[in-house]
Amino acid sequence: MRIPIVAGNWKMNELIGEAIDLAAEVTRRLDGASPAEVVLCPPFTALRAVGDTIRSGPPKLGAQNVHWESQGAYTGEISAPMLRDLSCEYVIVGHSERRAHFHESDENVLRKVEAILAAGMRPIVCVGETLEQRETERTEEVVRVQVENGLRGIGDRLRNAVIAYEPVWAIGTGRTATPDQVQQAHAFIRGIIGEMAGEAVAGAVRIQYGGSVKPSNAAELFALPDVDGGLIGGASLKADSFVAIVNAAR
Ligand code: PGA
Repeated sequence: MRIPIVAGNWKMNELIGEAIDLAAEVTRRLDGASPAEVVLCPPFTALRAVGDTIRSGPPKLGAQNVHWESQGAYTGEISAPMLRDLSCEYVIVGHSERRAHFHESDENVLRKVEAILAAGMRPIVCVGETLEQRETERTEEVVRVQVENGLRGIGDRLRNAVIAYEPVWAIGTGRTATPDQVQQAHAFIRGIIGEMAGEAVAGAVRIQYGGSVKPSNAAELFALPDVDGGLIGGASLKADSFVAIVNAAR
């Protein structure tokens, strides 16, 4: 039995005061009971405040990025031990926005995954094809390279990783992949994990869907056999819509 995981990726939004209000409201509405593991990923600047706010409630704390070295001369970067020090339990890596705007490669993703696991946290590894790649029928090829290269050599430790399938054309566009497209991609990814780490690990790894998940489509997507919750962008910035999405994992 895989416990679904719903994570809010707040991206570069929310000043500290706003972040505290949003985290408090989500925690209050979940009221101690949640059908899914819930993770809030605020910007670095609000991690401490959000961590304090959710301490006694169900949400866990996640970060949106990390550097692969644990310390040193890397001006402007944040390390995995620093995130662990703030009680982070999850870190998003390889988000398509980081791949597109900040040249995050699969090699970088792998180094970050290693650093996150070594610090005792869990990576949420994002993969997904662009519209052009889907239209030229390269979805599986692209996703296979991202999964194989981003998680190379992780082996059994893959149990502690979460994979987020996020078709780039569905992120922030209001355009969601169809249930058929989502199930197909998730089953494909689970198959690759099986090749890399064996069937037991493949059966245990959670694969989230991300890309314009809303209260109106979450239940249908989360009910798919290989979908274990979601990575939520825009709809995670309102407690109403985020909690409705969490409850759709029931
Ligand atoms: P979206 O973002 O829900 O706003 O499409 C998802 C994501 O980028 O993780």
